[in-house]
Amino acid sequence: MPAPVVAPSLLAANHGEFIAGLHAIEEAGLTWVHLDIMDGHFVPNISFGPQVVADLRPRSKLHFDVHLMLTHPDRFVAAFAKAGAERLTVHIEAAHDMGQTLAAIKAAGLKAGIAMNPDGDPRRLLPYLASVDLVLCMTVFPGFGGQAFIPSVLDSIRFLATERRARGLDYRLEVDGGVNAETGLLCRAAGADTLVAGTAFFKAPDRKAFVAGLTA
Ligand code: DX5
Ligand code: ZN
Repeated sequence: MPAPVVAPSLLAANHGEFIAGLHAIEEAGLTWVHLDIMDGHFVPNISFGPQVVADLRPRSKLHFDVHLMLTHPDRFVAAFAKAGAERLTVHIEAAHDMGQTLAAIKAAGLKAGIAMNPDGDPRRLLPYLASVDLVLCMTVFPGFGGQAFIPSVLDSIRFLATERRARGLDYRLEVDGGVNAETGLLCRAAGADTLVAGTAFFKAPDRKAFVAGLTA
């Protein structure tokens, strides 16, 4: 099994020093950054928008893995594509036509991801699995970093890993929220190959050791 991708979430970095946060990710030898976009409506928090992403874009070669926690993500596909996102992930729970939004993301030349909250039924994702490059199983209820991992989501991860094999698909299986040195390995064993870690990465005394523990 290939080593998983570890994608630190900039939400857990100092928001007045995003460039330093990106450098910390690069210095840890990683290639992805997870950018959590929150509208204060779909989730009870506001983070940052397309302008921040656009201003960070020329400052980093990291893969911009953008997670749209927006009620109307379809309205922002063009703005984040223009800002330099390489990948946009949208929630099944949001108020939009998922098929149309995924098509718009791909028409903009970006990788398309579908996300589900921890209480979601993974069978709701089945109609879209052949159309996405990534499936995100939230392991916390979205809105804030530093929350406790919800272990029941491991069943959804296993289900989606089984479906991936059974259907001969190759979407990435991403997890996000409460992922640390221990829970990340549980997710990996369940079939996840893309691990978002915000708090655990930025608070790690030795970030390279933290990454090594998840990817060995
Ligand atoms: C939560 C976000 C997560 C979060 C990471 O709504 O989607 O990406 O920033 O969480 P922690 O800090 O627990 O890794
Ligand atoms: Zn996220």
